[in-house]
Amino acid sequence: MRATVAPFPAARLRRLRRSAALRDLAQEHRLSAADLILPVFLRAGENLAEPIPSMPGVSRLSLDRLLDVARAAFDLGIPAICLFPYTDPELKTPGCEEAWNPDNLTNRAIRALKAELPELAVMTDIALDPYNSEGHDGFVINGEIVNDETVEALVRMALAQAEAGADILGPSDMMDGRIGAMRNALEAAGHRDVAILSYSAKYASAFYGPFRDAVGASGALKGDKKTYQMNPGNSDEALRLVARDLMEGADMVMVKPGMPYLDICRRVKDAFGVPTFAYQVSGEYAMIRGAADRGWIDGEAAMLESLLGFKRAGCDGVLSYFAPDAARLLGGR
Ligand code: PBG
Repeated sequence: MRATVAPFPAARLRRLRRSAALRDLAQEHRLSAADLILPVFLRAGENLAEPIPSMPGVSRLSLDRLLDVARAAFDLGIPAICLFPYTDPELKTPGCEEAWNPDNLTNRAIRALKAELPELAVMTDIALDPYNSEGHDGFVINGEIVNDETVEALVRMALAQAEAGADILGPSDMMDGRIGAMRNALEAAGHRDVAILSYSAKYASAFYGPFRDAVGASGALKGDKKTYQMNPGNSDEALRLVARDLMEGADMVMVKPGMPYLDICRRVKDAFGVPTFAYQVSGEYAMIRGAADRGWIDGEAAMLESLLGFKRAGCDGVLSYFAPDAARLLGGR
């Protein structure tokens, strides 16, 4: 579409900015609670909400407390929650066996949520890092993060989560071939309606730092994730990754992080027209919260502006730690 505009004074673009009513009428994009997915951190125990220092306002929750948070989110009109486990260090191994344990923390949480709040969609994370004593998303063999062996493990993890009742699987590992392998295994096991929201364009980013603290992966991780996560200098590659994941059976795709990659969101939406999500990651949350807590920016306004930016960039929804705060301000269901 080519923008046309009459010469001044026929066109005075300020006319439609004159009052709140006119601004509202002319507004192109809108944010609502229904656009949000709430990521939450789980931990073992009872009646625990353990603050995460690098993410003020976010805590690791025991399952009983998770149910309270999930119910509050649902009542605010948030349609989905995404689970990330903090795994006890004793349960982390080079073989990552805990990842597909049917009774691991995530799978117990899925069952509890589906029993208590069946209408809230439950999304999971698929990657080995929370369970890996090596801290990486894949198996480490002789210093290399191996692809095909990791994909087999991810498929086991996906099946265990589907079995527990997950609605949406979120592979965040960036191994090649994982979406097709998971989709085939899900079909073969009769899990025909489990959706896959692929972290298709996931960049090797400095903005994941606080998350790695939250899931307890910071200490274990040696080196970086640049041999599997994307190079921040690339854009065309994101389109190839999205095309590949859609061909392999992804239902929805994600760009991650969010704010530094809004151009990628727009390109993906324009090129494919599929449900497109962005993850406003832990470091983005920490920046806004940190500045707001010091009085350097208006936290509520900055939060809503940052989330609206994703809608303008073409996203259908956003994973954000701000989801409950934003939903409260937007007015719930
Ligand atoms: C790991 C995973 C990461 C996040 C989601 N899943 C971190 C990483 O790749 O190291 C980051 C989310 C955030 O920073 O909020 N599989």
